Amino acid sequence: MSRSSVVVCTDEVLGTISPLLYGHFAEHLGRCCYDGLWVGPQSPIPNKGGFRVDVLDALKRLGVPQLRWPGGCFADSYHWREGIGPPERRPRTLAESCGHQSVETNQIGTHEFMALCREIGAEPYLAGNVGSGSPQELMEWVQYCNATADTTLVRERAANGHPEPMNVRYWGVGNESWACGGNYDALDYAKEFKRYATFIKQVDHGVQLVACGDHSPEWNAKVVEANCRHLHLMDHLSIHRYWAGGHSTDFSEAEYYQLQRGPDVVDGDIRAADAMLTYFERPGHRIGIAFDEWGVWHPDATIASDFEAPSTLSAAVTAAGVFDVFHRWSGRLTMANIAQIVNVLQALIQTQGEHMWLTPTYHVFAMYAAHRGARAVRTEITGADMRAMPAVRQPFPVPQMEPGTLSMLSASASITDGGVAISLSNRHMTQTQEVEIELRGRTATRAVASILSGDGPNACNSAAQPSRVGPSEHVISVTEGKIIMALAPCSVQTVMVSDR
Ligand code: AHR
Repeated sequence: MSRSSVVVCTDEVLGTISPLLYGHFAEHLGRCCYDGLWVGPQSPIPNKGGFRVDVLDALKRLGVPQLRWPGGCFADSYHWREGIGPPERRPRTLAESCGHQSVETNQIGTHEFMALCREIGAEPYLAGNVGSGSPQELMEWVQYCNATADTTLVRERAANGHPEPMNVRYWGVGNESWACGGNYDALDYAKEFKRYATFIKQVDHGVQLVACGDHSPEWNAKVVEANCRHLHLMDHLSIHRYWAGGHSTDFSEAEYYQLQRGPDVVDGDIRAADAMLTYFERPGHRIGIAFDEWGVWHPDATIASDFEAPSTLSAAVTAAGVFDVFHRWSGRLTMANIAQIVNVLQALIQTQGEHMWLTPTYHVFAMYAAHRGARAVRTEITGADMRAMPAVRQPFPVPQMEPGTLSMLSASASITDGGVAISLSNRHMTQTQEVEIELRGRTATRAVASILSGDGPNACNSAAQPSRVGPSEHVISVTEGKIIMALAPCSVQTVMVSDR
């Protein structure tokens, strides 16, 4: 058994971990919104205003700080007016996302989405249509949602049941405008951003706008540079990143470790964008990074499978690694949204008819909840096994990579109201790893760990076995301020430490 040590530097605060880093994404794609979240008021499946009660309850238990909607690629052909007014009079429209055409019934529109956000306590984040829309259309959506003046649109909102403003603070200006959002080149998008942002902020100065970035540093630099004289219009720059490593449940050892590189790729994306933003920013206006789509996209999550695949323990371990990265970048990262909340891609919840189950990724979100709003501190890992990783040249969604190394241990820590929260994941596919944890600047007195492990990296939950993978609580002994734990292969743990 290998042994490594983790020192939690409680005196080196990196930033406050915004709860919005634990945000979610619901797109009108596959069975995420329809069927997953929404079954409609007439469904025999218990629902509240059309939304499944079992899913609502699971989301309320977890806490959803922010929810991005309605896309994704779907957003750039979505026209918000089609989703308001009496549901039976809403048009059936042709929708497209990710190469898949579907009929959009518009039963979930702005009011339904706001009701969902209210119910689960989520901050709404609306993705605006740049590709097939206009600044006028998006300005009017902002006005419809947020204005208080006695305009026709505000009267219409009231007539549709919402006299009070909806106060939507976060607005995306286009989605993946470099591809499905209109195949713009960076400079053309940069011009569009300026135009849209100018007029949206005239409607509501208080909104925060997310410019469409990419994991391409070149696109990001061009968009930001071209907006240099108007950077006050840009509050956040988005990045999307997906990764894969073979079939969701049937993968080789090499593919397993390939999947585990996801967090390092995310780290590289943020590092590059941070350096670029630091170069262009002016004093007094910092641009946040909105990592507003991230997660595993297995090759078996295709149009034919409605973009669904089993959500495994190994995928959940990569989510833990991503949060460790997010915590380290808490000074720059302002929000993040996993793709997606129900059924699609790295879903937290999956449904099948009346059945609903939580995925290992849901459990990781719950186990990391202690870090939300806490102060991230630096962790020092020594002695962890490093695995040599080959170059990767494969088609999407596998990121292109140079040869490198992958640490078998990922960790992050934060100072909470009650003590110190430390999260650790063992990325070894088959080996247990012993870890000695020490706090620098404090002395640990008591430790309780929540542990997520399973009978293999491809372990997952399903309608037949909804609780095959789930966390369990353990008191961990503390000897002279040191915590020694054996981490099972492919596992995640969050240790809540009391200290003096
Ligand atoms: O999350 C699925 C899709 O991935 C989104 O629609 C798009 O933004 C991205 O390419």
